[in-house]
Amino acid sequence: MAQREVIRLDRERIHELTAIEQQRFRESTARSGEVYARASKALTGGVASSYQLMEPWPIYFDRGDGQHVWDVDGTMRIDFHNGFGSMVQGHAHPAITRAVRERLELGTHFAVPTEEAIDVAEELARRFGLPRWRFTNSGSEATMDAIRIARAHTGRDTIVKIAGSYHGHHDGVMVMISTQVADMGDRDDYRSVPYGAGVPKAVADLTIPVPFNDADRMEARIDRLEREGRKPACVIMEPAMMNLGVVLPEPGYLEAVRELTRSRGIVLIFDEVKTGLCIAAGGATERFGVTPDLVTLAKALGGGLSSGAIGGSEEVMEVVRTGKAVQVGTYNGNPLAMAAARANLLEVLTADAYAHLERLDDRILAGCEDVIARHRFPGYTVGVGSKGCVTFAPVKITDYESFKTHQDAEVCDLAWLWNINRGIFMTPGREEEWTLSVRHTDDDVDAFVAAFDSLADALTG
Ligand SMILES: Cc1ncc(COP(=O)(O)O)c(C=O)c1O
Repeated sequence: MAQREVIRLDRERIHELTAIEQQRFRESTARSGEVYARASKALTGGVASSYQLMEPWPIYFDRGDGQHVWDVDGTMRIDFHNGFGSMVQGHAHPAITRAVRERLELGTHFAVPTEEAIDVAEELARRFGLPRWRFTNSGSEATMDAIRIARAHTGRDTIVKIAGSYHGHHDGVMVMISTQVADMGDRDDYRSVPYGAGVPKAVADLTIPVPFNDADRMEARIDRLEREGRKPACVIMEPAMMNLGVVLPEPGYLEAVRELTRSRGIVLIFDEVKTGLCIAAGGATERFGVTPDLVTLAKALGGGLSSGAIGGSEEVMEVVRTGKAVQVGTYNGNPLAMAAARANLLEVLTADAYAHLERLDDRILAGCEDVIARHRFPGYTVGVGSKGCVTFAPVKITDYESFKTHQDAEVCDLAWLWNINRGIFMTPGREEEWTLSVRHTDDDVDAFVAAFDSLADALTG
């Protein structure tokens, strides 16, 4: 990112605009407020997952079609959230709807294998260059099982993860997420801080966080773990971090991690729950040309139905084939989810679809970059495939520590409110990025840029 002169934002002005937008939000989502009051009685906190919580209340949705969503107040918005990136196909895609409907009438669940799962596994093997696959029902299950497979394969317990990366809600990876910089510990020796209560210390201590984009520190930490008799089973990482906005790997980083893990006999897991199927047909594995030992998928795989997958080399997946590691689940490979995934992969996320997503992402990134330059706004754009964001920081973010230190959280919160009040549904949360869908058009991304332009104007004008 080239250094340029930027405007210093007036904090008072940010607070003033935030208060106005909050009031507007309350007025325009009044029915959601009513639903929230009812929901709070039976649903804990009024939501099914704590990631759906929002102030003053969550927006309750009614329906979606293509790139549009409607809330219970009847307001239509353009969806850039897309179910945390699950809906890169857009909502109610005709090909997926048809496939699900056909399967629905033939019976939806048997807990025995059906042929759809074979088609999906074959297509994933082709895309990711990994020959052996298993299915799960979510990203959390995929990363949980992948770690168990790595442990079974190596006979070791310790795992290495990237500080700040989210890999799902099982105990082993609920470590060093949302941690304050002051609590992280020394950069050479990050602490295994549990994320929320209820994670046993003994389990958290098996998970060693290291900074992203720093292969030397990863190597040094692994050296030390080896000396301590705690050689890791695996390194689990997002090849491009999607849970800090978007943070791309610096040139050579993934190759260095691949070389390091291969030379030490440590399993490399790419968690592609967010990147896979969204940034290229074969995810980050294809995009950056580095093949891990195991890859985990979920979100965009099922076209809106719950599913996840683990792909791996023959060597590492051998522990599953022989039964040494137990990889199971009643709903694994559920026919309805597999029918949706098959239509998604074979009919929707085609080469043309990826070309469309790339072109739109280039357009939205260029539009936002132009706004930043014209307003001398403190921020920059970053994106890949269908994903991207404006990072509200005056310097480039390369890892979790720089993100926590430099992200302008107040502008981030205001931007979300500004967007929602102007028909743009962005992913709530300061760590999130947009996901474009195959149904988005030039006009849709131009609307996003126009909303950002008006925000930049209001903050710098
Ligand atoms: C990179 C990554 N891995 C794993 C998960 C967990 O997936 P799920 O919510 O389907 O359990 C997420 C969810 O946001 C994720 O972003």
